[in-house]
Amino acid sequence: MEFQIKNSTIITKQKAECLVISIDSGKSQSDFVKEIDKSTNGLVSQLIKSGDISHELGKTTLLYATSSNLKQKLLFVGCGNAKAFDLMQAQKVIQAVIKELLAKKIKSIAWDLLNVNHTNSLQIAKQLPQIVSDITYQFDEFKTTKTPAPSLTKVTLLVSEKSILTKLTNNLLQGEIIANAITATKTIANMPSNVCNAKYLAEQGKQLSKVHPSLKVTCLGEKELAKLNMNAYLAVGRGSQNESIMTIIEYQGAKDKKAQPYVLVGKGLTFDSGGISIKPAAGMDEMKYDMCGAATVYGVMQAVAELKLPINVVGVMAGCENMPDGNSYRPGDILTTMSGTTVEVINTDAEGRLVLCDALTYVERYNPKTVIDIATLTGACIVALGHHYTGVMGNNDKLVAQLVSASQKAGDKAWALPIDNEFQEQIKSTCADIVNAGGRDGGTITAACFLSRFTEKYQWAHLDIAGTAWKSGSQKGATGRPVAMLIQYLLDQ
Ligand code: BES
Ligand code: MN
Ligand code: ZN
Repeated sequence: MEFQIKNSTIITKQKAECLVISIDSGKSQSDFVKEIDKSTNGLVSQLIKSGDISHELGKTTLLYATSSNLKQKLLFVGCGNAKAFDLMQAQKVIQAVIKELLAKKIKSIAWDLLNVNHTNSLQIAKQLPQIVSDITYQFDEFKTTKTPAPSLTKVTLLVSEKSILTKLTNNLLQGEIIANAITATKTIANMPSNVCNAKYLAEQGKQLSKVHPSLKVTCLGEKELAKLNMNAYLAVGRGSQNESIMTIIEYQGAKDKKAQPYVLVGKGLTFDSGGISIKPAAGMDEMKYDMCGAATVYGVMQAVAELKLPINVVGVMAGCENMPDGNSYRPGDILTTMSGTTVEVINTDAEGRLVLCDALTYVERYNPKTVIDIATLTGACIVALGHHYTGVMGNNDKLVAQLVSASQKAGDKAWALPIDNEFQEQIKSTCADIVNAGGRDGGTITAACFLSRFTEKYQWAHLDIAGTAWKSGSQKGATGRPVAMLIQYLLDQ
C-alpha cells in the first residue's frame, strides 16, 4: 500500500484506475459540475445526468466512463457541508470511499482534494492511512486457508496548492506511522493466551528494540519483582504456570537525557480467568484481551521511535496471568504492596489494580513528568461509557483535560469521570489499609481510587479501556485503541 501526494490541478491526467471526486453538498449541482469541469478539462460533466450523484455525507456513486477520452472509473463521494466538515465527517467519507473501492476490487486511485479546504485535507491525509489499514486488517495467523489481502495498492491525493504540500506529506506520514502502531497493537492483542504470555510480551519488546535501536528494553522476572517487594503483582501471577514478567521500554529523544520522561504503564494480563473468584464461562475467551493495555504501550513505543519524538518516554508492559490453582492467592489474603500499603483481597478477579499498583510504585524512580496507565480494568466502565468512550480519571485536572482533547483530535474518543474523595470510603478495609474491590456502585471510579493511593508522588491519569480495546461477537477482535489518542497526547507535548 503506497500513499502519495501530488500538486496538480487536472485529475483526469492521473494514471490511476479510478478518480475520486469529493462533492460539497453546500453547492448546487450546476456549481459543482462547473468545478469538476475545471479539474477534468470538461470531460466529466457530460457523464453526469441530473440527480445522478448524491451529495449526502458518505454516499458514493461509481460511474464508468464511456467517453474515449477518459479511461478511468469515477467515484463521486458526498462530503456533506464543507463548512461543517470535521474529523467525524472525514472518517465517514474515507470509510465510504475505501469500502466501495475494495468491494469493486479497484487497485489504484487518485483523489481530488482540490476543492477541500486546507484544514480538512490535512485531516483526510492523517486519517486515510489509519482507516485503510483498519478496514483491510486481517488476523489470519492461525487460519489454515488465508483470504487474499484486499487489493488497494496505491492512493494519490491531489492538491492544487504547493503551499500545503509539506504539511500534507507530514500528516500522511504521521498517519501511516499511527496506522502501523495500531496494527502492531491489534496483532499482539489478538494473540491467544497459549501463545501470548508475559514472556511473549517480553520477547516482542526485545524484538522491537532490535528494529528500533533507540528503544532500550529491560525485563524483570519473578526473582527481580520479589527483590523489589512487588508482592501484589506477584500474588496475582502465583496460580499461573507462566512467569510474571514486567517489560520496560525506554526511549530517550529529548536533547537533555535527564529530561523528565512521560511514562506509560499497560495492564498486561495475558489471561484473566478471575482466579479463585473465577469468572463465569460465557465470554471468558475474551479475557485473552486483558493485556490490551500492554499491547497499547507496545504500539505507542513503536510510533514514538518512528516519529523520533523529541521527548523521553518510558513504556511498561506489566505481564501476568490470573489463574486458579493450589498456589493461587485467595480472597481474604492480605498483601503488602511495594509501597508498603497493605491490601485485603476481597475478590481475586480485581487483579488488574494489584498488578498496576506495584508497577505504578516502581515508575516513581523515573521522576516522571506524567504517568498514564492503560488498563482493561472494569466491566463497570462498559456499563458507564459503552464501547465508544475510554474512561479517563486522574489526580491532575490539566492532564485529564489534555488527554480528552488529544482523544478528540485523534478521533479516538475518551470521557472524564470524577474521582472525588467521597468514593475513597468504598475501599476502606477492616483489617488492612484498603480492599481491592469496592463493590458494584461506581466500580470504575473506585478502581481508580485504589490506583490513586499509589500515584501520589506524580501527575497521573488512568485510562479504563475495558469497553474500547476490543469488539465482541462476529466482529471479535482488538481495536488498537487508545493508541491514536496516546500518540496524539505525546505529539502535543
Ligand atoms: N479484566 C477485568 C475487567 C473486564 C471485564 C474487562 C469485562 C472487560 C470486560 C477485570 O480484571 C475484572 O475482572 N474486574 C472486575 C472487578 C470487580 C471484581 C471489582 C469486574 O469488572 O467485574
Ligand atoms: Mn479480573
Ligand atoms: Zn482483568
